[in-house]
Amino acid sequence: MKVDVLLGLQWGDEGKGKIVDVLTPEYEIVARFQGGPNAGHTLEFEGKKYVLRSVPSGIFQGNKINIIGNGVVLDPALFKGEIESLESSGHELKKRLLISKKAHLILPTHRLLDACYEAAKGDSKIGTTGKGIGPTYTDKVSRNGLRVGDILHNFDEKYNKAKSKHLRTLQQYGHDTSSLAEIEKEWFDGVAKLKEFTFIDSEHYINNAVKEGKKILAEGAQGTMLDIDFGSYPFVTSSNTISAGACTGLGIAPQSVGEVFGIFKAYCTRVGSGPFPTELFDETGDKLREYGFEFGSVTGRPRRCGWIDLVALRYAIMIDGVTQLIMMKSDVLDTFETIRACVGYEINGQKTTEFPFETEDNITPVYVDMKGWQTDMTKMQKEDEFPTEFKQYVAFLESELGVPIRIVSLGPDRAQTIIR
Ligand code: GDP
Ligand code: IMO
Ligand code: MG
Repeated sequence: MKVDVLLGLQWGDEGKGKIVDVLTPEYEIVARFQGGPNAGHTLEFEGKKYVLRSVPSGIFQGNKINIIGNGVVLDPALFKGEIESLESSGHELKKRLLISKKAHLILPTHRLLDACYEAAKGDSKIGTTGKGIGPTYTDKVSRNGLRVGDILHNFDEKYNKAKSKHLRTLQQYGHDTSSLAEIEKEWFDGVAKLKEFTFIDSEHYINNAVKEGKKILAEGAQGTMLDIDFGSYPFVTSSNTISAGACTGLGIAPQSVGEVFGIFKAYCTRVGSGPFPTELFDETGDKLREYGFEFGSVTGRPRRCGWIDLVALRYAIMIDGVTQLIMMKSDVLDTFETIRACVGYEINGQKTTEFPFETEDNITPVYVDMKGWQTDMTKMQKEDEFPTEFKQYVAFLESELGVPIRIVSLGPDRAQTIIR
């Protein structure tokens, strides 16, 4: 049996949480492979809405095993808050949420360092989520990190050593650390909560499950254009969000990867700084934000909005080896008279269809205009109800992207999903 991978193809918030939940009945295990509480994965069903940050999105459908993989970075304080809110709504996770011993811990001082490094960047801020993601992955790579498994042995000593090192850096920058004692208290309460869960060698668990023929879905966070290697660097996150990240973030071999589900919005959004060639600064952009309710689920920041960018999407599909596409939020375009798709870029008078290295340059998108369907699609149940213009839009995207669109999402609710 192979591990299917589901990931975002744009700059995050494509709707990964919703679709993982929709697909969970087909799987026995759902495993998050990277990122941390910078993610906010929203699920809606039976009139309720949940936002998951570190917990995989496979917890609501049946008694499936959910795993937080080694590639994830975990903040015990935020984890505790997330678990308690799920417990208070009747979702008991202790028996079915397993945590890799190798997942790295976000320390209170990592959060302070995140704010400190952002402040030091002056005008070129990344606009991080402020959750300590960059500093935690930095410590992982520089071999200074603490892992979940460390909680079980001489933890205070290891913690204090890492904290002292961070404090020296914060002092060098003159960063205010007065909030530390308070954050630390919550954090250690979080560590106590974390210890109620089972820590596992998730690479063995997952590979054994593969051998036993169990179906596994690997859930990504963020999106391909935020990948540390291939995203719009330096305006990216600090992990590999691409399909290869599922191999390193779970310990599975490339040949164990089966389907790669690539999720995209029928338009495009981005939170934080960085290049966004098709961004709209006019009332069309405002309309996308209003109709799509484009406000960050973690920080509440308004998301930047623009037309679909097929140059960036083709790039993401290539890097990820996407085998099936999933189109989200097409209902947001239901009232638009004209819909635009960027099919190429013009950079310094040169046309290109490849995503460039230098994204600081002035990129002028080359658009194809299509007639909108101007029909409310949110209650449609079957593909044959789709309006002609919508079918044309889907066919156009499939031909431009070279991969079939297998799922179309027509609203935030689990039920508003059409599998073709
Ligand atoms: P994720 O981070 O990729 O899981 O996505 P987010 O949850 O951050 O953002 C997606 C937002 O769009 C959430 O508020 C979802 O409830 C909502 N959503 C998901 N699919 C659809 C859809 O097809 N139509 C509409 N209108 N909203 C959707
Ligand atoms: P989900 O999983 C959208 C963005 C931040 C910032 C950059 C770096 O919900 O799709 P970080 O805190 O990771 O160091 O911030 O990445 N970012 C996201 N944008 N969705 C996300 O996650 C994101 N996680 C990080 O806004 O620009
Ligand atoms: Mg999100």
